[in-house]
Amino acid sequence: MKLVIKAINVPHPFPYQGSKRGIAKSILSYFPSDVHCLMEPFCGASAVSIAAAAYGFAEQFILNDLNKPLMDLWSEIIERPSVLCDEYEKQWIEQQPDPKTYFFKVRNEFNKTHNPYQLLYLLARIVKGSVRYSSDGQFNQSADNRRFGMKPNTMRQNIFGVSALLSKKTIISAVDFRQVVKKANKNDLIYMDPPYQGTSFTRDHRYLNGLYYEDFVDALSYMNELNLSYIISYDGITGEKAHGKLLPDSLHLKHLYIHAGRSSQATLLGNDHETIESLYLSPSLVCRLESKKPSIKQHVH
Ligand SMILES: C[S@@+](CC[C@H](N)C(=O)[O-])C[C@H]1O[C@@H](n2cnc3c(N)ncnc32)[C@H](O)[C@@H]1O
Repeated sequence: MKLVIKAINVPHPFPYQGSKRGIAKSILSYFPSDVHCLMEPFCGASAVSIAAAAYGFAEQFILNDLNKPLMDLWSEIIERPSVLCDEYEKQWIEQQPDPKTYFFKVRNEFNKTHNPYQLLYLLARIVKGSVRYSSDGQFNQSADNRRFGMKPNTMRQNIFGVSALLSKKTIISAVDFRQVVKKANKNDLIYMDPPYQGTSFTRDHRYLNGLYYEDFVDALSYMNELNLSYIISYDGITGEKAHGKLLPDSLHLKHLYIHAGRSSQATLLGNDHETIESLYLSPSLVCRLESKKPSIKQHVH
């Protein structure tokens, strides 16, 4: 059922806590060969969609995240890379005399304007790529003062790389994930990476929104009724410690584990253990994978 995929260089414009960049290739190995549209309703840094585009595993993409300024940034990355890169370079240079004060100035302004150019600068500078919001939705993460953010030339290469992969084939939205998945068809694939259970509704709001376990299970049950193909990343194990509840047997999902090395989540939890991430495949996806021979595209050894 699983494909073996060669490593190629995949661009990425900003670090993001919980990003699946490190295990995107392993997740792609559970993709069927006939995906028309890949939907990523909790996209964050969109690591899986970018990798799928780079390896040619889907024709169209839907990127969505409830975080509206983040999705405005995605529109700029994909459709207006040149202006965005110029604005990033301007901020990166302007910060040089006093990066610490400059970061706070941009953060204050961003909390008033929600400007995507400012968000890119903040994402490039924050501690461990970990976005945090106060209970009233203000971006309140601090800067990593040992680093000044990706160099403008590297940022330009990454942003133009992502834009080339996703331009003219991507729809962007900032709505609740349930509104996205209901548009799926049988040839589509939905990859879902909701907030970690440990980070939903906690005092330090890692993401703009949390998600209740029961609500997520209800949505999955509805998706099963529609015979949708989906893959979920949902918590995992670090060392001996399991994070979060498993998804229930009543959903008939195939549960797999992926070795994620020392992930950013493990680092955030303050330990050195290897992280093993849970991956669940929907019943319709399992049937689809079993009924078709694996794709023998150029990516397979
Ligand atoms: C674990 S992160 C996704 C990381 C992503 N896979 C990556 O590679 O960067 C979860 C994301 O879900 C978003 N989110 C939370 N609740 C949501 C909801 N109800 N609908 C859509 N997005 C939501 C958060 O804003 C956050 O960006």
